[in-house]
Amino acid sequence: MDAATIIARVRDGTEPSQGEMNWFAAGLASGKVTDAQAGAFAMAVMLKGLSEEGRVALTLAMRDSGDVLSWSLGRPVVDKHSTGGLGDCVSLLLAPMLAAVDVPVPMISGRGLGHTGGTLDKLEAIPGTNTDVGEDRFRAIMDEIGCAIVSADRNMAPSDRRLYAIRDVTGTVPSIDLITASILSKKLAAGLDALILDVKCGSGAFMETEEDARKLAKSLVSTATGAGCKSAALITDMSQPLAPAAGNALEVVEVMQALTNPKNSRLVDLSLALAAEVMVLGGYDTAPEVAAVKLRDTLTSGAALAKFDALVAALGGPKKFSEDWRARLPEANVIREIAAPKTGRIAALDGHAIGMGVVHMGGGRLTETDRIDPSVGYSDILAIGTEVAKGAPVARLHAASEKAAQAAERAYLSALTIADDARPVPLMIDRVG
Ligand code: URA
Repeated sequence: MDAATIIARVRDGTEPSQGEMNWFAAGLASGKVTDAQAGAFAMAVMLKGLSEEGRVALTLAMRDSGDVLSWSLGRPVVDKHSTGGLGDCVSLLLAPMLAAVDVPVPMISGRGLGHTGGTLDKLEAIPGTNTDVGEDRFRAIMDEIGCAIVSADRNMAPSDRRLYAIRDVTGTVPSIDLITASILSKKLAAGLDALILDVKCGSGAFMETEEDARKLAKSLVSTATGAGCKSAALITDMSQPLAPAAGNALEVVEVMQALTNPKNSRLVDLSLALAAEVMVLGGYDTAPEVAAVKLRDTLTSGAALAKFDALVAALGGPKKFSEDWRARLPEANVIREIAAPKTGRIAALDGHAIGMGVVHMGGGRLTETDRIDPSVGYSDILAIGTEVAKGAPVARLHAASEKAAQAAERAYLSALTIADDARPVPLMIDRVG
C-alpha cells in the first residue's frame, strides 16, 4: 500500500478500503505518511466527501491508530460529547448523576482552546484536582465511583492529533467527514457502548447555523452507529451561554448550585435530557421520561453530589468539597457589575465574543501551552429575552486587574444587543437518531 494511491482513491471518489484507511491512519500516527500527503488527503476528503461507509472506515482506522480501552463492568458504559459552547458545564453534572444510578461513565475530556472552555479546566479550577491520571488510576476511579473525568492518554487516537494539526493549516477544519472522524475516533477509543451527542448551534458554537448543526449531528450519529456504538444527538441552542456564567471556577459554582439546590435551569434541563437519552441508548430504560425521573432524584437526594465529591477527592482535590466549596474556589481580584447601556430586553449575546473576552482575561487559551487563570470570567449573565433598565446589571465580571476588567467590560458590551423587544430562545432545537 502507498499513500498516493489512497489519496487518489479519495480524489476520484472510489474510496479506500478499510485496510487502506487503517494503513493511512497508522502512517499518520507513525510519521510514515508525510505532512504533504496528510494535507492532500484532508483536502481530497474536504472537496470530494466520503460516503457513510468511508466515514465509518476512517473513524475506525483513526480510533485503532492507538490504544482502545475495553471494560468488563458487566453493564454498558456510556458517555456524552458536546461540540462545545459557552457556559457548558453539563459533563460535571451528567457524569455523577449517571454514576448515582449505576450507569458507568468513563469520560475522556479535553481542555479549552479558543473561545470555548474545556471540561478538564473547569474541574481543575477546584484546587488540588488533577485530571491527568494514568490508565490504571482511571480504571481504579471507575471501579470505585462509577464515573471518571480524565484527560486523554497521548496514545489515544494519535492519528487525530497529527491530522488535526495539519487540517488547522490547510483550510480543512470545516469538513464534516473529518470533524466526525476526529470527534468519534477519540470518543470511541474509550470503549463506549452508547454515546449521546450534544450538537450546539448558534453564535457561541462550532456550527453557527441550524443546517450545519443538523448535517454534523446526522453524520456523527450514523458514523457512531456504523462503528458499533449506539448513538443519538440533540441539537441545542448556543446563541447564549448555557449556564449564566463563562469561566472555569464560575462554571463550577453553577454546577455546585445545581447539585446542592437543584432548580430548573437550562443547565439542569439539558443535563437531565442528555443523561436520560443515553440511559435509553444504553438499554437502562425504555423511555427518556422514565430515566429523567430517576436522574432528577439523584439531584434532590444528594446522591449525585456524593458522587461529585468522591470524584473530586479521587482526582486529588479536597476530601469533602461540597462542605466548603465556596471558600475553596479561587476568586478574582476585581469583581463588579456590568451596567446596561440602555433600557430594553436582552436581544443577542455574541457567544464567540464573550468567550474571547474570557480568554483575554486569562481564563482560556490561545495556544495549547497557555496557562489559565481559573478565577476569571463572567457570571450572572442575563438571558436573551430578559427585561433590563438602563444602568441595571446585565452581568458581573471577574478579572485579575482593573486594566483587564476594563477590557472585559468593553468586550461584553460589544457582544451584547439590547432591543425594544426580544423573546427567550428555546433550548432544544431537534433530536437526531
Ligand atoms: N473537535 C474535534 O475534536 N475535532 C474536530 O475536528 C472539530 C472539533
